[in-house]
Amino acid sequence: MKIYITKNYDDLSKKAANIMASQIIMKPNCVLGFATGASPVGLYKQLIKYYESGDLDFAEVSTVNLDEYKGLSSDDPNSYHQFMQTNLFSHINVDPKNVFLPDGLAKNSDEECERYNKVISSLGGVDLQLLGIGTNSHIGFNEPSDSFAKETNCIELSQSTIIANSKYFDNDSMPKYAYTMGIKSIMQAKKILLVANGKGKAKALKDSLTGPITPSVPASILQLHSDLTVVADEDAFSLMR
Ligand code: GLP
Repeated sequence: MKIYITKNYDDLSKKAANIMASQIIMKPNCVLGFATGASPVGLYKQLIKYYESGDLDFAEVSTVNLDEYKGLSSDDPNSYHQFMQTNLFSHINVDPKNVFLPDGLAKNSDEECERYNKVISSLGGVDLQLLGIGTNSHIGFNEPSDSFAKETNCIELSQSTIIANSKYFDNDSMPKYAYTMGIKSIMQAKKILLVANGKGKAKALKDSLTGPITPSVPASILQLHSDLTVVADEDAFSLMR
């Protein structure tokens, strides 16, 4: 495990973007696993700058996202499809044919999970998977549980995730279910890059990186990955000093 501690969010974003950029430079047709949430937004801004200055080319890159809300269409402003369009895809030259997310409107959840698993394996797996972390240590939408989920699954969101994410939704409109890559799918990525910022993530990060490996702390499984890089600001790292 490599850990980089940065002074602030800006430095975290640049460091994490450089790691991702080096992956694209080393393998222009790589498969990137993307994440949503506030944490990676600065990283995406930095990747856009590299693209605009001619330093990065996404023409051959394929992307798979971790998760999507069940019940939201791909053009719903709160969908993760739209999040990725707004924060990254509409600003770079990634080919829409090479962009993959779970379909929130799929009629049959089991079939949708199966379809998404096949998408990931048909691409040959993920070269570099970006992750944020929830305050309850969830990764993707893999919530604390009695067992580690394997591949793509449709899960009921926990109360703490609903509280954390409902700020993006009007009234009570936040979906209660979501599709997420499973823990096994995440762990099969060749490299993993975890970003965490702010005091609110300090306990989740400490429990995940230094505590016992248990499905009640989903990100704790990352301790077993052979190529994990963590980029955290001082606040997120504060309980480990
Ligand atoms: C959501 C996403 C996760 C993300 C988490 C943390 O639940 N499904 O992938 O890591 O939020 O988000 P934030 O970075 O906004 O704290």
